[in-house]
Amino acid sequence: MNLPLTGRIKPDNSVLNLKEYQAAHGYEALKKALAMPPNDVVNMVKDANLRGRGGAGFNTGLKWSFVPQGEQSATPKYLVCNADEMEPGTFKDRWLMECDPHQLIEGMAISAYAIQASVAYLFLRADYNLSAKVLQQAIDDAYAANLLGDNILGTNYNLKFYLHTSAGRYICGEETALINSLEGRRANPRAKPPFPQVSGLFGKPTVVNNVETFCNIPHIIQHGVDWYKNLGIGEDAGTKLYGVSGKVKTPGCWELPIGTSVREILEKHAGGMQDGLKLKGFLPGGGSTDFLTEEHLDLAMDYGTIQKAGSRMGTGTMIILDDKTCPIGMVLNLTRFFAQESCGWCTPCRNGLPFVRQLLTDIENGKGRKEDLDTLLEYCGFMGPGNTYCALAPGAAEPIQSSLKYFKDDYLEHIEKGCCPYKH
Ligand SMILES: Cc1cc2nc3c(=O)[nH]c(=O)nc-3n(C[C@H](O)[C@H](O)[C@H](O)COP(=O)(O)O)c2cc1C
Ligand code: SF4
Repeated sequence: MNLPLTGRIKPDNSVLNLKEYQAAHGYEALKKALAMPPNDVVNMVKDANLRGRGGAGFNTGLKWSFVPQGEQSATPKYLVCNADEMEPGTFKDRWLMECDPHQLIEGMAISAYAIQASVAYLFLRADYNLSAKVLQQAIDDAYAANLLGDNILGTNYNLKFYLHTSAGRYICGEETALINSLEGRRANPRAKPPFPQVSGLFGKPTVVNNVETFCNIPHIIQHGVDWYKNLGIGEDAGTKLYGVSGKVKTPGCWELPIGTSVREILEKHAGGMQDGLKLKGFLPGGGSTDFLTEEHLDLAMDYGTIQKAGSRMGTGTMIILDDKTCPIGMVLNLTRFFAQESCGWCTPCRNGLPFVRQLLTDIENGKGRKEDLDTLLEYCGFMGPGNTYCALAPGAAEPIQSSLKYFKDDYLEHIEKGCCPYKH
């Protein structure tokens, strides 16, 4: 099977250095892109139908096309890589950064050229110490080989490239909060519009993309639009890094054609449930997506299909709930995280999440009341899309509202028995 993103990664997951990367055709796509008009690179990525891998699935080339170009347009333009990766259950970008750092740097350099950015920032999660070490070495090596900096590969294109490590908050992954944080401000999201492509970092045109998104770029340029589209087996293009965590036999992360079924990911790659356990439900795209259940196992893991089923593909990294783990305990655990990570900028999130956390704590401890279930749903509505500055609160509401849909009997049992039946 063709594995463009991870095919070069060594079996022992040690770093692919610059020499090894170049021996495997690395940086050939950058050379090719630099010989193309920047707008042709944008159009190629747009036509390839690469959808952003950070969660929302927006067409990457289309996003780039919103950056104003021409002599009158604002400069400098900035490119930012979102490597914050703090979504619960998500551990795909770290693999790409620690094992094949030049693929990301090459993808960013091509993308920066496409939007005519002269400065690129790689915004990295605070805890990713090994990634930071590996990336800084790779950036230094790329500078020394004239793959970054002035007159890249003998052309007149210049790109300054910085690694920036975050101070460590989940909200820094939201692209406008990330931009505030890079500017040294409090990391709260900005109201949109204006969108970052027009007015982003320091008020200048800025594109923010996810690590995995950038890693696709050299392959699209190298092999072409049709080749890339044919990698997918559903309605989306390319491959996807899918992950599974929870009580399965072999939790992990795999690159597979986008559109692979949930069943194949869970049963073939993750080895199925651990002995003695049954699947009760799963969050398909990280901690801030709606639960799906066994009836959805044969669905394709692509953006449209998972959305039609009532959830989101998100980061493509599933969290599995088994039949011996309390669903309310699991949702409470996630809600504790989201409540703690709220930036406090808007009321439904700042006040709603701690309130919901308390209700869930009471129910889990056997002190809940039946009417609390209606209150929970009502609060999920308050925190829903359109009521907040960013998607943190709507995302936090997703596992709660869907647990009430699929696991209502568990809620009622907690209330009727006055304890958590999974513990007693
Ligand atoms: C609370 C929150 C956290 C986020 N964290 C990340 C993250 O760690 N990495 C990421 O790429 N996108 C994250 N996003 C999505 C970004 O705002 C943005 O959509 C993404 O970086 C765009 O890149 P893409 O188009 O390549 O997907 C987060 C969004 C929210 C609301
Ligand atoms: S939804 Fe939460 S995290 Fe997002 S802006 Fe509002 S308070 Fe901040």
